Amino acid sequence: GRSICTSKQLDAMKVENMLIIGSGLMGSGIAQASAQSGPHFNSIVIQDVNQGALDKAAARIKSNLEKMKSKNSSINVDEIMGRITFSTNIQPKSTDNLLVIEAITEVLDVKQNLFKNLSEQFKDCPNVILATNTSSLPCKDIGIHVTNHSRYAGLHFFNPVPLMKLVEVVKLDNTSDDTYDSLVDYVKSIGKVSVKCKDTPGFIVNRLLLPYMSEAIQMLERGDATVRDIDTAMKLGAGYPMGPFELMDYVGLDTVQLINAVWMKRDPSLIKPSKIIKELVDSGHFGKKSGKGFYEYK
Ligand code: CAA
Ligand code: NAD
Repeated sequence: GRSICTSKQLDAMKVENMLIIGSGLMGSGIAQASAQSGPHFNSIVIQDVNQGALDKAAARIKSNLEKMKSKNSSINVDEIMGRITFSTNIQPKSTDNLLVIEAITEVLDVKQNLFKNLSEQFKDCPNVILATNTSSLPCKDIGIHVTNHSRYAGLHFFNPVPLMKLVEVVKLDNTSDDTYDSLVDYVKSIGKVSVKCKDTPGFIVNRLLLPYMSEAIQMLERGDATVRDIDTAMKLGAGYPMGPFELMDYVGLDTVQLINAVWMKRDPSLIKPSKIIKELVDSGHFGKKSGKGFYEYK
């Protein structure tokens, strides 16, 4: 890794360079949202171990931007695409005022190992913030091998990132105020709103959403109502933009399953195991991203 770090440690830093790790639904959305918010950043690198995932991410971002351009002709698709570098190497363009956001698969030991390597790679670089986009794992557990805890936090985005205005900023016991302020400032700079969270299960949003999704699955498994009726009911009776099954398909059923597994371990009273999710995931039906889940997608 790169070891020459020129900048000395500032207080709250203004993010200038970004390194996003994982180019799935979330990583690609974070890259898109950051790039389309303006020329704020000197560089945005998105890394994935899977070249196919990077290719898909580039295609997805481009198609989203083209859709936006058809509605708002002032958008320059090539310019925005040109701000993002797609790579299989974990190598930022610069370590100056660098924000690293981890958005890889929701598996604890893989994330722990990644943060161990990142801490080693950036150990001499004072102005690097490491953040995790985890949905369900304790940020503290993910960061056990982090060496500079004052520069480590949670930064939790929502799917679809380019449209969802909220980002939860998770301040751990050892996250410094300067790091927290830097992240709040970054969120604002990309046109989003932050809320301050503790490192508690589900932070704010998922603490309420996951039990809701779990109740919907149990209702279905008991045969109380159909997928379509439950979704219609919540949309028309409670004003939700999507019903719980549409939302699970949207989040990704593989991700829902991983999140549920973590939650059942953390607090078994909140989530019940689901046969239906397991069957769908076992047959490769991950929801919208794979073309089929509770619903079919073209
Ligand atoms: N980038 C740019 N534009 C996009 C886009 C993207 N990624 N995705 C969609 N769009 C565009 C669409 O093309 C559409 O354009 P048109 O109007 O020209 O068709 C426009 O944005 C609006 O899309 P929709 O017509 O689909 O609009 P909608 O009113 O149905 O809103 C929605 C879509 C915002 C996704 C809305 O359905 C919604 O809010 N759903 C709930 C999402 C939610 O709850 N997310 C949180 C999930 S939980 C989570 O993320 C946390 C976790 O840890 C699991
Ligand atoms: P995804 O399955 O769409 O993408 C994960 C990507 O990570 C894949 O492209 C995979 O190749 C890559 N990857 C796996 N291991 C890697 C490694 N060691 N290094 C680099 N890349 C690696 O998943 P997603 O939905 O984008 O979720 C990513 C993270 O964001 C998870 O922690 C998830 O809990 C969280 N999250 C998800 C949502 C959601 O709605 N899907 C919302 C908020 C947060």
